[in-house]
Amino acid sequence: MLRLIARPLLLAVTLMAGLSACSGGDTSDTAAAKPAGEVPPIIKEREENFEAIGAAFKAIRGQLDADAPDFALIAAKATDINTRAQAIPNHFPASTSTADGFKTEALPAIWEKPEEFKAAAQKLVDESAKLVSLAPGGDKAAVAAQAMAMGGACKGCHDKFRLDDEK
Ligand code: HEC
Repeated sequence: MLRLIARPLLLAVTLMAGLSACSGGDTSDTAAAKPAGEVPPIIKEREENFEAIGAAFKAIRGQLDADAPDFALIAAKATDINTRAQAIPNHFPASTSTADGFKTEALPAIWEKPEEFKAAAQKLVDESAKLVSLAPGGDKAAVAAQAMAMGGACKGCHDKFRLDDEK
């Protein structure tokens, strides 16, 4: 007797569960997939900013590898890095971390420790400013040492706040 009642009930429950899984499934699937076209412009913007920072730093290192570095060029590239470093804190609005399903290397730590992240960006502002003022002096060793110090500001932030996908 119990069995007879239980079976149709079970069937009904299974059916209902199946139905709601289907209709609910559609929307959550689209939200989770986040096709490339839906990447917020700010993520592209900050990646382009970092790419330009990376290119400027590479140009500086290239000059320092040369016998006669172009110190004016080093100063110009350091100025570019300085301007771009000031923009970093504005490039990280909420819900744009790796935890939000976007293709990004911005770790949630950025939002968990906002003051520390800001300080890490400020460090790059300060170290690049020092390079800007040192470069025109043309002292290769001093400029190279300051370029190293600036590189330390990159690493300091990346170690804590950027996903290392090579690990
Ligand atoms: C305050 C933190 C911080 C500092 C300072 C910093 N970065 Fe980054 N960098 C990041 C974060 C976070 C990302 C990941 C951004 C993303 O994927 O949305 C990143 C990404 C990058 C990328 C990859 C960009 C891309 O195409 O995805 C390069 C290249 C880069 N940084 C170079 C540098 C260099 C060179 C310096 C120093 C001159 C530097 N960064 C300083 C935080 C920082």
